Formats: sequence, structure tokens, C-alpha cells
Amino acid sequence: MLSVRLESPNDFAEWRDKARRLLAAGVAPANVVWRYGAEDNGLFEAGDDMLPTVAGAIGSVPRDFLTLAQTVIQHSDPERFARLYTMLWRLQQDSRILMNAADSANSLLTNMASAVRRDAHKMKAFVRFRTVPLAGEERYVAWLEPDHYVLEATAPFFARRFAGMNWAIVTPYASTFWDMENLSFGPGGSKKDVPAHDAVEDDWTTYYAAIFNPARLKVSMMKSEMPVKYWRNLPEAAQIAPLIRNARAMEAEMIARASTQPPARHLRQKAREISAVDELIQSIPDAKAAIESCRRCPLYEHATQPVFGEGPPDAKVMVVGEQPGDQEDLAGRPFVGPAGQVFDEAIAEVGIDRKKLYVTNAVKHFKFVPRGKRRIHQKPDSGEISACRHWLDMERQLTRPRLIVALGASAAQSLLGKAVSVAKVRGEPIPLDDGAILVVTNHPSYLLRIPDAEGRAVERAKFLADLQLVERLMAQSEN
Ligand code: URA
Repeated sequence: MLSVRLESPNDFAEWRDKARRLLAAGVAPANVVWRYGAEDNGLFEAGDDMLPTVAGAIGSVPRDFLTLAQTVIQHSDPERFARLYTMLWRLQQDSRILMNAADSANSLLTNMASAVRRDAHKMKAFVRFRTVPLAGEERYVAWLEPDHYVLEATAPFFARRFAGMNWAIVTPYASTFWDMENLSFGPGGSKKDVPAHDAVEDDWTTYYAAIFNPARLKVSMMKSEMPVKYWRNLPEAAQIAPLIRNARAMEAEMIARASTQPPARHLRQKAREISAVDELIQSIPDAKAAIESCRRCPLYEHATQPVFGEGPPDAKVMVVGEQPGDQEDLAGRPFVGPAGQVFDEAIAEVGIDRKKLYVTNAVKHFKFVPRGKRRIHQKPDSGEISACRHWLDMERQLTRPRLIVALGASAAQSLLGKAVSVAKVRGEPIPLDDGAILVVTNHPSYLLRIPDAEGRAVERAKFLADLQLVERLMAQSEN
């Protein structure tokens, strides 16, 4: 038995070097024990100094395996090194195993990679920096306990996002530092290394209370999206219990305020037509899972996560915005920020029930430039819109809406396949190739940007008129 020792828990290059040497020497997975750090060799194990120092030639390795392995190596399962080596060994005989979803080792590795991605996503969403005054300068430090070894791969995201700050993130197994130029890594720490409270936290707590929407409260969802284990490190978590307690009263008040609106109509059930765009993707949840690994344009690099559409998969009406904003990027849901609020109020005013709409965006990743701690929205360009049309088309094929509402020029461009002026095409139904009807109107954020109240009122009236047309068309399609 050969014992192979790795210094790092998650260094792909280190694992790959040893794995290639093992493979070239013809050492079968059953004859290898992978040891990490200071773990002792077993009694009958030889050290890997027996291996050739330079890897000989090995068969070709599919690119997909390299991508998968770079993620799986971050998993906390102690067997990850061995599982990867076994798969690498098998791939030498059959390079198509990774295409076989029924292969149990393949599906185990895929699940491990998903768990790592989820953990990295939680890290991006739940890190909270606290200020530490140091030598007259503001430093920021955060403590986090990830489930997997995700710090190194996630740190560049924070360097881009908080490029103008001096910060550190400390986890039990490693820490990382950004000095506004370089990213460096150090040993792990403990929670007491990180200050308990600061002024930034008060601002954050107020912000959290302000965005809390009682009508959207789903405690089980909240727990799955923001697992309870993260709550203890989040300043806003102290607000969750009182907000939940008050939610019912707040919701009743919201319903009472809307009770003069006409009742929303019931949409008929429509059989779902499954498209053949991609044989593996058969449903909206499948597509939502698939977009997690989208690399069709570079926007995925900086965004927290893709924001897929949401709503009934058999909705008769699809609403398409431009792209997620700051709050949507963090929440992973479309139209939950300020533009979403304008939209929700306007549709309520004309009697459209959001629960009956499938709401999505032309571009699924947030595009922004960092300015200190803020992220400033950038309009997607034509290349990004056309790269992301793949997903919008897939959503259309899977939901088959009869009516599509484009909010703003980017959505109209994606749906019509060419740039159009909203002013020229708004308010008139446009037939699309698949038989759906398109109505184009302004983006709700346009209303937010109009400085004077009078101008805003004029534009809002036009927006409501367009939505009234949508409501009439919805009613007609039911009769
Ligand atoms: N603007 C959009 O176009 N979409 C969102 O989801 C949020 C803001």
C-alpha cells in the first residue's frame, strides 16, 4: 500500500501532480491511501517518495473532469482525494463516464461539487465585515465557518467586490487578507480574533429591517436560504424573531391597503410543452440548476449568483426585466429591490396578481462596477444580452407564455432580436414567432430616475396605461 501525502486540504495542483505520477506508475486506486497534513502513515504503508519525481505520459483527461475536480477538492469529505483518483483512473479506460448521470461515482462527485458551490455562495452572501481602526486606518475583518474548504477559491470575488478596502476574512482553517493590491492567505483563526460589534453593523441592521417584506416571509425558505448556523454570525439575525412576530400584522395591513383593487383573475391551467432545446433540461428547476455553471459571458465572474426567473411554470404571462440589481443579486430572486417595489405597486394598481406572473430578466447575472462598498449597476451590452438569450428562450420554451411583457430596452432587444426604441414600440401588441404577444413598456427603474415629481407622475401614468393593456389582454386570453 502506498501512502500519498498532501500538504494542503484543497490545493488542486498539488493533488494533480501526485495523481499524475501515480497514474503514470500504474498504481491502482485500491493500492493508494491519501494522507493529508500531519496524519501518520499506517503500519504497512510505503511513502510516496517511492513514486517517480516526474510524471510520465498519461492518457488524455476530459476537461470536464478538471473543472469538476477543482471544485470537489474543496469538499470536506476526507475521501475526496481517493474518490477523484478513482475517477481519474476509470476515465483512462472510458472517457465518457462523466456523461453518464446514472454512474454512482459520477453522481456522488457532482453532488459534492454542488455542495461546495452552495457553500461558496453562502460565503459570498453572508460574510459581514466589522471595522477595526488600525494605525489611523479603517480595516475590515469578518469571521466565517464554511462547511468546506472554499476560502481560497472565493477570496478573489471579495477582492473584486471590495477592491477599495483593506480587509481580512478569518475561518477556522485559513485566513485571507486584501491590502487593496494583493491577496494573501494565512493560517486559520478563531471567532474571538474578530471584533463583536461596530458602527457598520448598525447601518446594516437598519438596512435589513427596511428591506424585509412581510408578504414574502417563508420561514422554512429563509432557513434553507440562510441556514440557522449562519445566523449567529449575522448582525441582522437578531431582528429575525421580532420581524417574524410582526409579519402577520404587517401583511394584514398591506392587504387592507390593497383591498380596493379589483380581484385578480384566475389563469387557466395549460399543459406544459417540453422543449427539445436541451434534452437534459426538462423543467424550470432543471434549468435553474444548470444556469449555476453558466459561462456564456464573463458576468458570472463578479456576480454573487445567477438570478433565474420565478413564478408558476405554467404562467400565461411572462415579465422580462433587464438584469438583477444589487438586492436581487444577493437574494437570488428577480425584482425584489427598489425597481421591484415600483413594479409591484403598479401591477397591484391595475389589478394584476404577481403570483400569476413568471418574472425573469433578459440577463441573469448582475453587472456592476465597484465604488468603495457600493456596486453601481451597468447596462448589459448586446453581447451579454445575446449570450443570455439562451436562458430566456429556454424559459419561454418551458413555460410557453401567451403574453410577454418587456420592461425596458434590453428586454425588448432580447425578445425582438434587435435594438428598438421603447418610445416607438410601447403600448402596441407585437406578435412573436411562437404565437405569443409581446407588449413593450418602460423599465420601472426609469421612474425612479426621474428627478421631478411632475415628470414622474406623467411617466407613471404611461406605465400604468401599458400595464392596463396587459391586464386587458390577460383577461381576453382567459375568455
Ligand atoms: N431590474 C431588473 O431589470 N430586474 C430585476 O430583477 C431587478 C431590477
